[in-house]
Amino acid sequence: MAKKNLTVGLIGYQFMGKAHSSAYRQVNRFFDLPLQVRMKTICGRTESKVSEAAETLGWEGYALNYHDVLADPEIDVIDIATPGNMHCEIAIAAAEAGKIVWCEKPIGNTLDEAERMHAAIQKAGVLNGVYHNYRKAPAVALAKQMIDDGTLGEIHHMRAVYLQDWITDPNFPLVWRLQKSVAGSGTHGDLTSHLIDLGRYLVGDFEEVSGLLHTFVNERPLLDDSQGGLGEAGSAVGGTKGKVDVDDASMFIGRFKCGALASFEATRFAQGRKNHGKFEINGSKGSVVFCLERLNELEYYDASDPSSCQGVKLIQATDASHPYAGNYWPVGHIIGYEHTFVNWVADAVQAVHDGGPISPNFEDGLKNQIVLDAVERSAATRSWVSI
Ligand SMILES: NC(=O)c1ccc[n+]([C@@H]2O[C@H](COP(=O)([O-])OP(=O)(O)OC[C@H]3O[C@@H](n4cnc5c(N)ncnc54)[C@H](O)[C@@H]3O)[C@@H](O)[C@H]2O)c1
Repeated sequence: MAKKNLTVGLIGYQFMGKAHSSAYRQVNRFFDLPLQVRMKTICGRTESKVSEAAETLGWEGYALNYHDVLADPEIDVIDIATPGNMHCEIAIAAAEAGKIVWCEKPIGNTLDEAERMHAAIQKAGVLNGVYHNYRKAPAVALAKQMIDDGTLGEIHHMRAVYLQDWITDPNFPLVWRLQKSVAGSGTHGDLTSHLIDLGRYLVGDFEEVSGLLHTFVNERPLLDDSQGGLGEAGSAVGGTKGKVDVDDASMFIGRFKCGALASFEATRFAQGRKNHGKFEINGSKGSVVFCLERLNELEYYDASDPSSCQGVKLIQATDASHPYAGNYWPVGHIIGYEHTFVNWVADAVQAVHDGGPISPNFEDGLKNQIVLDAVERSAATRSWVSI
């Protein structure tokens, strides 16, 4: 018997639009799910581009205004993959329209937006999810299992970095990610939000933080406004410069409620580092290390090994016994970045069928934003902030 459809409308067709579309195309091919994802409508503002995206990415049709997607009674899920300045407006309207809402991270550009989004989904009683996809890497989910089952013992430290280098050139243009009005913040909301989510997922909620935000390059060449000045592919760089009003680097130390200590750093100025999202967690019985650039692997140190053969071992999280891995290839046949999104969607589709909740969801998004906001306030006041 044909499965019931879960029909999706996706807002945004570039980086995350492509990643989410890939996941929707693949999820029912790798996972045995109770619902079939139907890719009905993709939405963007430029007809030539969104129509091409619809065809390339596998959507039945396209729309130029997200309100038209919300008005479609066949659509169950609204997926928001736009820059942050549109998340709040679209999410609240989608919740009010009774849709399931899946949103990219961070859910809002400010804490106030995140609170309003969270209130809207609660009031409407709709299922909701936030695309913190790194939780869904098999090696990260394995680390979570090892922490939850006590393998690592009492957790003492989480040390996390997210290092990139794509704006070290001062002539790199003022794309939307460097504009507060569009992105909300710079490295902080973009990269530190991922680290905070991993921290909350693996170790638990934060108790207090002390942060530092810094901007190395304060003005950059403006883009040709023919693309709306948002730095879409093909935008030309003009001669004049505009102010960078977001952070280039974001760091904080903190304490988790469980007593563990946190040291988190994210930057777009780490020459040589491309997408180096890495964490190390030290517990009383052992340690684990994960790096996104080698996402199939989890380093593990077991302190109970005899001293003669102690050392860090490398677990390749591709065995059928590892989370998600059994849905893909025989052991040793690795998966990639895009599969973290497939795994996210698989979990979300199952949760929708089961009546929820989806994990992570807007409550996680709000708690993440509370930490982001606390770090910003701490940096501004040069003081510790309680969560
Ligand atoms: N989960 C992750 O690992 C990850 C990675 C990158 C980006 N993100 C998040 O995804 C979101 C989008 O980032 P991106 O890298 O895909 O950006 P992008 O610039 O590549 O794409 C943004 C898309 O939004 C569309 N858009 C903008 N305003 C719109 C509107 N009013 N109506 C309809 N469409 C509109 C643009 O046309 C474009 O297609 C951001 O919140 C970002 O933080 C998450």
